Amino acid sequence: MLAATSPLFDVYAQLPFEPVSGEGVHLRTAEGRKILDLYGGHAVACLGFGHPRVVETLARQAKELTFQTNAVPLEVRERAAARLLSFAPEGFDRVFFVNSGAEANENALRLAFIGSHRQKVVAVEHGFHGRSSAAAAVSFGAREKWYAFPQTPFEVHFVPRNDATALASAIDADTAAVIVEPVQGMAGAFELEPRFLKAMREVCTASGALLIFDEVQCGVGRTGFGFAAERCGVLPDILTTAKSLAAGFPVGAVMATEAVASRAGRGSLGTTFGGGPMACVLVETVIDTIETENLLENVRTLSERIRSTCRVGPVKHIRGAGFLLGLECDRPATEVRDALLTRDILVGTSTDINVVRLMPPLTLEAEHVAALAGALAEL
Ligand SMILES: Cc1ncc(COP(=O)(O)O)c(C=O)c1O
Repeated sequence: MLAATSPLFDVYAQLPFEPVSGEGVHLRTAEGRKILDLYGGHAVACLGFGHPRVVETLARQAKELTFQTNAVPLEVRERAAARLLSFAPEGFDRVFFVNSGAEANENALRLAFIGSHRQKVVAVEHGFHGRSSAAAAVSFGAREKWYAFPQTPFEVHFVPRNDATALASAIDADTAAVIVEPVQGMAGAFELEPRFLKAMREVCTASGALLIFDEVQCGVGRTGFGFAAERCGVLPDILTTAKSLAAGFPVGAVMATEAVASRAGRGSLGTTFGGGPMACVLVETVIDTIETENLLENVRTLSERIRSTCRVGPVKHIRGAGFLLGLECDRPATEVRDALLTRDILVGTSTDINVVRLMPPLTLEAEHVAALAGALAEL
C-alpha cells in the first residue's frame, strides 16, 4: 500500500524495497542492499542495468535529436525497422512502431478488422494482451476482474490451451483474427505446444483469419530465439512485441507481411511518440548487443542450467522457455518470492498461484543461477 499522503493512484501492491540504482543484473536499494533481479521489471531489462552500450546510445541520441514524429522521415527509424525485420523470422515486410505492448496489440487487432467485414476474434484461455479496450477484450478473465468498459469492441471467443479441436470449431468465416502468446507470460511461463500453434496457422489460412503472435513478453531473444515464432516454426501474419525491445525505454512494434500492412492506408494508424528517435536508436542497440554478445546462446545454456539445478526446495517442476521460466512450487508463489527477497533475490509471481516467474536479463551469468539454486535449496 502506498502511504495515504502519496499523490499516486494506489493500484499496485508495493514490494518492500526501493531501488535507487542498478548495475548489471543487480539493483541497489535505498537502504544499501544489493538485490539480484531475476524479474527484470516485468521482462523489460533485457540488458540489465547501466549497460555501457545503452548508456552511450542514449547520450549520443539525446545530443543529436530527441524527438520528431512519424510526419517526417527519420533515418534512425528506417534503420531500426530494417534491423528488427532482420532479427525476426523471415516473412515480415513492414514495421509500425508504438509505445507499449497494449498499443501494439490494439493496432494489430485494428489491422485485422480493416476491410474484413468480420466480427469476431479468437483468443486462448489464460492469455494476457494488455489493458486497452481491444487488448483487454482478448485477455482471459479481464471482463470478470477489471475490464470495466460496458462492452467489448468485438465478439471474443476463448479456446482452451492446446485444444486444436476447440480451436477448429471456434474459427469460422466471421473470424477476423486469432491472437496468441506462443509462451504465455502472465500465466506463469506456459509454452503452448508447437502442434497447437501449427494447427492455428492452418485453420487461419483456410478461413482467412489473421494469425497474431503476441510476443510482447516472450520476444526479443527471451526464449533463446529472436522470437518464439522461430522456436515453434510458425509464421504468423502479424507479430507484436515491446517490453525488452529498447531495454527499458518505452517502445512497441507491430510487424506484418506486406499483404497485411497494405490494408493500412494513410491515416488509418497513428501515434505521437511511437517511432521516436530515442526509442528507435535503442532498438538497434539492443538487437546489435544481443547478437554481438551472443546472448541467445547464453539464454539457451543458462536456461538449461536453471532447469537442471533449480528443481530444489519448494520447486517441483520447471516450465516455459529460455529466460521466461515458471517454477511450479509446492506452496504459494508469493511465499517463495517473499522468502527469496529476504535473501536478496527478486523473482516474480504469475496468475497461476503456485508458479514463480523468472524473466532475468539475457546477460545473466552462471554464478547468478548458482545463487538462485542455493537460496531455493534453503527454503
Ligand atoms: C504478452 C503481453 N502482451 C501485452 C502486454 C501489455 O504490455 P504493456 O504493459 O506494455 O501495455 C503484456 C504486459 O505484461 C504482456 O505480457
